[in-house]
Amino acid sequence: MLKPENVFTPRASDVNESMYIDRGDLESDLEKGLRSGMHLMIYGESGSGKTWLYKRVLKKLNIKVYIANLANASRLKSINAEFENLIKREQLPKKTGFTESKKGQLGIPATANAELSHQNQYMIGEMEPFEAYLSHIREVAGQEKAVLVLDNLEAIWSDSNLLSELANVITLLDDERYAFYKVTILIVGVPGDLRKYYQKTQNLATVANRIRELPEVSRMTIEQCAKLIHTGFISLLKYEIDDYNKVSSHISWVTDRLPQRIHEYCWELAILGEENQGKIESSQLNRADQLWLKRSLASNYTVVESMMNERDTKVGRRNQTLYSLGLVEKEEFKWSDVEEILRREFPDSTQGLALNLPQILSGLSASEHKTPIIKRSPKGDSYCFSDPKYRMCLRAMLRKVSDSDSVDKLPISDV
Ligand SMILES: Nc1ncnc2c1ncn2[C@@H]1O[C@H](COP(=O)(O)OP(=O)(O)O)[C@@H](O)[C@H]1O
Ligand SMILES: [Mg+2]
Repeated sequence: MLKPENVFTPRASDVNESMYIDRGDLESDLEKGLRSGMHLMIYGESGSGKTWLYKRVLKKLNIKVYIANLANASRLKSINAEFENLIKREQLPKKTGFTESKKGQLGIPATANAELSHQNQYMIGEMEPFEAYLSHIREVAGQEKAVLVLDNLEAIWSDSNLLSELANVITLLDDERYAFYKVTILIVGVPGDLRKYYQKTQNLATVANRIRELPEVSRMTIEQCAKLIHTGFISLLKYEIDDYNKVSSHISWVTDRLPQRIHEYCWELAILGEENQGKIESSQLNRADQLWLKRSLASNYTVVESMMNERDTKVGRRNQTLYSLGLVEKEEFKWSDVEEILRREFPDSTQGLALNLPQILSGLSASEHKTPIIKRSPKGDSYCFSDPKYRMCLRAMLRKVSDSDSVDKLPISDV
């Protein structure tokens, strides 16, 4: 019998095939990208499903995949050190073992062939780590397509030395000697501006033009999220849910449909269901909210709580503003968007009154707080959350008090 932890796995790096939810265009865009012959780049916020996406697609296409972790590179202060690591881990023999027949099969031009014969005299330990690794990949992959993934780009994003090292790696790929190995590079990470970065700061436009950026991986659609919940609770765990629509739409709402967060939340709820003989009741959602807030969003909770704890007369308005912020759907929003929601949600206490949202929002933002929940956009005319977790936290944490226009927090101290 399956247990919650076999089904809901927020931090699993290996794909659980029975839980994988297809993401439509994202998979086909990646497939097309792999056929384009260009190097590729996938971006999206943490937990959006990038790693599962490429692993699933590459597996389906039977493409061999090799993964270098840029977080390790960051720790080691060198990307080549990470390649060295990988080579050591796979305990490569000293000699590459390239054979004449393999060379022939690759169908490479004569010039490259000459290069290779030259190459072949190298011991792998004498090659640059990057080339040694490419050579290893090609050897293991034989004639098959092979992809080298550089995952967690965000880990080196603030380190200009590592970013130049990455630029060198990409530039080298075009060098005949490296291109010979025919390994596609797939860069995976959070920032979406790699091309711009190289175009602007390093005058490496040609490098940037060798990378094809795939569309952002972000939240799931409502249908995908519902399917994930259904697959986990009903098909796999075989639980009963008293009000499926209510439970499903609540999860979809508080988690903002981010795959990792959906799994986290569902795990909490599944444990409650397990304690309840495999029955999920919508009345358990409050408890699941508390458990999830405590375990996964505790630091965000503390920040929001501190912003509510003010004793001035505007406390009611400020709490209403926080609640309204949770309802914002846009990534970037203006104070007028928040005001519209606030007036809609709290009509009795706002009618005919000026609300001064610009001031309240600025009080919650970077200019006034060390740990702001919102920050101004670069242009300065709108805001976004300083961390997407705040939106989820506000949604799970704040409640309207019935019959009044005030807002209360869901306590988690007893959890
Ligand atoms: N397509 C999917 N279907 C079901 N669950 C998914 C899917 N993609 C991701 N997940 C869940 O989200 C978690 C985080 O995904 P991951 O690919 O590691 O995100 P990222 O690499 O963007 O940080 C995974 O461990 C898994 O639990
Ligand atoms: Mg990942």
